Amino acid sequence: MDATVRAQEEGDTSRSLYKHMLPFIFSTLSSCLLLLRCAPIALNTSQPIGMASYGSASWVTLALLLFITLAATANGDELSASYYEKTCPNVQHVVRSVMASSVAAQPRMAPAVLRLFFHDCFINGCDASVLLDATPFSPSEKDVKPNASLTGYTVIDDIKSALEHDCPATVSCADVIALASRDAVALLGGPTWSVPLSRKDSRFAANPESTKKGLPSPHDNLGELVAMFSRLNLDARDMTALSGADTVGMADCMHYSDRVYGADRDEEIDPYFAQTMKQSCQGPSEAENMCYTLRTFEPSFTTGHGAQLRGKPASKHCGCPYYRNLIARRGLLTSYQTLYGGGGPQDNLVEMYSADGEAFARDFAKTMVKMGNVPPPMGMPVEVRLKCSTANY
Ligand code: HEM
Repeated sequence: MDATVRAQEEGDTSRSLYKHMLPFIFSTLSSCLLLLRCAPIALNTSQPIGMASYGSASWVTLALLLFITLAATANGDELSASYYEKTCPNVQHVVRSVMASSVAAQPRMAPAVLRLFFHDCFINGCDASVLLDATPFSPSEKDVKPNASLTGYTVIDDIKSALEHDCPATVSCADVIALASRDAVALLGGPTWSVPLSRKDSRFAANPESTKKGLPSPHDNLGELVAMFSRLNLDARDMTALSGADTVGMADCMHYSDRVYGADRDEEIDPYFAQTMKQSCQGPSEAENMCYTLRTFEPSFTTGHGAQLRGKPASKHCGCPYYRNLIARRGLLTSYQTLYGGGGPQDNLVEMYSADGEAFARDFAKTMVKMGNVPPPMGMPVEVRLKCSTANY
């Protein structure tokens, strides 16, 4: 068996063990804690607290508390675009206006938020687990290598604060990321869509090993990407459409220097493009410090960092530049270029999106909704976090 596949399967097993054990441990612990706090009241007694002193009533309380705790776990309820209609009617407006002012001040925040959503949904579903800070008991997904370059957390915090002011303890951080990334794409000149809502926030982050293995690598080949996305029920077409998100934002040179200097060296790469890559990335040793700007949905957007390669806009008529680049052998990362050149239906998809901007916009919007519907694992304790970086208690 291929080593990567085996590693992924081992990761799946450890994650699934983790997924199944954690809710149980959490439920038991929190029920015991609640029991310690509430039992004297429930029993109407002033006796000191100690398990041995509880009568049968305490076990009834324990069972009840266990039930209540388990009820607050992920259950895969249907999402709905009108979920906050009565409880927080202004939610869409609040998210849009905070996003608009943040992106106006710092254009980099639009791609950053979009990438946050992808990295959230790929690990334990769209549950805002990527936002949780490390605690003495639990590491953070933020600190695992593929996530170390994520930004945009402050924008999500700003949106959440505004929402807590308007409708306290109502809108989940997971819904905030989903709405904000939709607005990010619109602000970049891309398509828009209606976001189904009612996600809940997981109380726990995934373990570092699962986080690392759950995210696609810039060195992945087509088969590895298809396998990675299929774990979330996203097929090759979904994967190809979603990859168009990499039209915007930036990539660090360390992710592509191998394509011009090292192990992933691509002899068929467009020579002019290879030259530009080399210029933006002076050599593998400097990889950490250099940045390369990817293309944008709209040509007017610039980040002001590093070397820039401006693209033509993704318009209805001329299609998406990301896919045109692949056909011209100008894929920045190995994982981009692998989407084209092998022949068959995969090449047809890339050719279609490169020529038909409407087809790309339609599929991208549809697939963002599909990716956004991935729930946290069954039984994961969930809540509406009051602060996105920490669980409620
Ligand atoms: C197909 C597999 C994918 C791979 C291997 C991949 C890999 C990468 C890498 C290596 C970077 C540069 C990160 C850095 O240098 O800090 C990046 C940037 C980015 N990716 Fe992807 N990506 C993939 C799919 C996606 C998807 C599905 C989305 C969203 C739906 C997405 C959104 C973005 C965005 C917006 C950026 C720019 C972030 C910024 O400028 O802050 N990517 N991606």
